[in-house]
Amino acid sequence: PRPEAATAPRIPATRLALHHFDVTYGPVLRERWAAARAALLCEQKYGALLNSFCSADHVTQELELLGATDFVSEASERARRGAQEGDGGCREGSGEGRTAAREETTRAEKSPLLRASASSNIRCYTFPRCDITRFRPARPDVLGLLDYYLLDAASLLPVLALNVQPDDFVLDLCAAPGGKTLALLQTGVCGYLAANDISVSRTKRLHQILHSYVPKEMRETVSVTSYDGRDWGQLEGGTFHKVLVDVPCTTDRHSVMEEDNNIFHKRRTKERQMLPMLQLQLLMAGILATKPGGEVVYSTCSLSPLQNEFVIERAVEIAETQFNISIHIEDLSHFRTLFQDTFSFFSDCRLGELVLPHLTANFGPMYFCKLCRR
Ligand SMILES: C[S@@+](CC[C@H](N)C(=O)[O-])C[C@H]1O[C@@H](n2cnc3c(N)ncnc32)[C@H](O)[C@@H]1O
Repeated sequence: PRPEAATAPRIPATRLALHHFDVTYGPVLRERWAAARAALLCEQKYGALLNSFCSADHVTQELELLGATDFVSEASERARRGAQEGDGGCREGSGEGRTAAREETTRAEKSPLLRASASSNIRCYTFPRCDITRFRPARPDVLGLLDYYLLDAASLLPVLALNVQPDDFVLDLCAAPGGKTLALLQTGVCGYLAANDISVSRTKRLHQILHSYVPKEMRETVSVTSYDGRDWGQLEGGTFHKVLVDVPCTTDRHSVMEEDNNIFHKRRTKERQMLPMLQLQLLMAGILATKPGGEVVYSTCSLSPLQNEFVIERAVEIAETQFNISIHIEDLSHFRTLFQDTFSFFSDCRLGELVLPHLTANFGPMYFCKLCRR
């Protein structure tokens, strides 16, 4: 008889991933897991991040004719209207109504998106809910710069939450292949941008993206490095206004669909189990890289509470106890209102916000949480 090991069929990593998610996400997401699961197994939707450095005409007209809309400016407009209505209520209302309206106004004014809208030039087109039209591939202008970058539109939410202000020093700690770095550059206001990724091959891809989308003068203001992000606090501690920590994770959508480079391969079990520790170390380095008063956005493309809220909670605790750094977690719940037409959100996260994949809006998963260093 042949030995057991030789005859046992190899279970595909995608199957292992799906089984793992059924066991761990089912109890957390409850009735919403079935819908998210179905969506993860279907074709994802993209957004077209417009390249403001590209001189090609008619791109927006072309996209609008197809029925796509810019969800970022739609949300800014909604925030602005919300603030104005709040104002009106203040003037006309009385008693309790007036107080509620004033609170609503203050909330809208505090909205990072509203504050950012003056300086943010980020524009990203998506097709409406249930419309699964695909975007054509990007095209170059006369100088060779491409007109848009296709990405999961939900991955712009961490960038918008970071709310870059004019002249901010910004660090993108795990930057490759560079979708979020490009979005940070599209704000047009970064004073200085450091884009780091431990992987040399992936930083090459980041360089290529910068080449294809950003003019030379602007590229030269970006510093691309390949350090282990965990060491960053020691290298350049306390220097940045804004830090994005977009960590390696179980990349849930990839894990249920692709065998290649799948973190659920048996041989990668240890690496997968160590992910929350690596994520915590990277987030700590991000916090230490921030100036007092500065802000960090942590993000993953996983639905796992162990890689999301738990990492945040541990980081806040360690910052307080080991570094005497006090952290405030910013309430981003208004993102759910502002972006409800475009994304499906899970409203029961203890900390941060989570975009759930759904067949009518097949973006995400995307978890993001904002930490403010006091
Ligand atoms: C989710 S991806 C980043 C995606 C990127 N922010 C974007 O929007 O295109 C996570 C990245 O973390 C990098 N990484 C893994 N370990 C790291 C470490 N110790 N320090 C810095 N980067 C690391 C990986 O090479 C990978 O490119």
